[in-house]
Amino acid sequence: MAGLTVKPLHPSIGAEISGLDLHKPVDAATKAELGAALSEHLVLVVRDQHFTPAEYLTMADAFGTPMRQHYSQHNMPDYPDIGIILHRDGQKPAAMWHTDHTNRERPPKATMLYGLEVPKSGGETSIANMRAAFGALPELEQRRLETLTTLNSIDTHRTDVLPEDREKYGKPVSHPMARTHPEHGSKAVYFHITKAFQIEGMTPEASQEYMSGLLDRMIRPEIVYTHTWRKGDLLVMDNRATMHRAHGDYDRSQDRVLWRLIIEGDRPH
Ligand code: SIN
Repeated sequence: MAGLTVKPLHPSIGAEISGLDLHKPVDAATKAELGAALSEHLVLVVRDQHFTPAEYLTMADAFGTPMRQHYSQHNMPDYPDIGIILHRDGQKPAAMWHTDHTNRERPPKATMLYGLEVPKSGGETSIANMRAAFGALPELEQRRLETLTTLNSIDTHRTDVLPEDREKYGKPVSHPMARTHPEHGSKAVYFHITKAFQIEGMTPEASQEYMSGLLDRMIRPEIVYTHTWRKGDLLVMDNRATMHRAHGDYDRSQDRVLWRLIIEGDRPH
């Protein structure tokens, strides 16, 4: 099936993929092309998809193996690897820049979002190229980040974490703040500000201040692709070199239902 069309969506990040039938098993050559496109462009968009939950899970094999998500109350009862993003059920939009599940030793290499219902306007998802963010930092700060590690746990400030999820996913895990992409070889800034409760060797307060200042300095329009959802869009983000955020600015009488999958990854280094 190889021979995909890859059309960049933004000068820094994102590409639309066509020539791909995700309802058929994807062969090894196509998987390799998709993997290379993801490492290079960091966000892939495939339009006009129609999946049942079972088809969505089967199709995910094109990108890797799904892993379980930790806010288990939002996981689909019959297909628990699929997380349902639905703000009308009380979930808060994930509005802060973050990469996913850094409280896991092997955080997911990719996050997939499928737009089942989308609002008429607003409710976008923005994704930032953290490889470009790293590259734009002064050299001294790049060298400093290469020495820093964060300690991560499931969000301590959240009151909606079930005790069993906190038990399973709450143990502190250390990750580098400058992460080398295992396929691309480049470095990216890597942290999740609400899961990283401390940068090792700094106080929690100084850690939060440094991470927050870094986000303010690093995330500029030139490195951000904002995805305006159409029903049936599939968005795949490379968590090893991006951060993303949801836009909550839409009419809540309209549905915004995204099905999320996360794909197994490596231990960051
Ligand atoms: C997420 O952070 O995984 C969700 C993004 C979104 O709702 O757009």
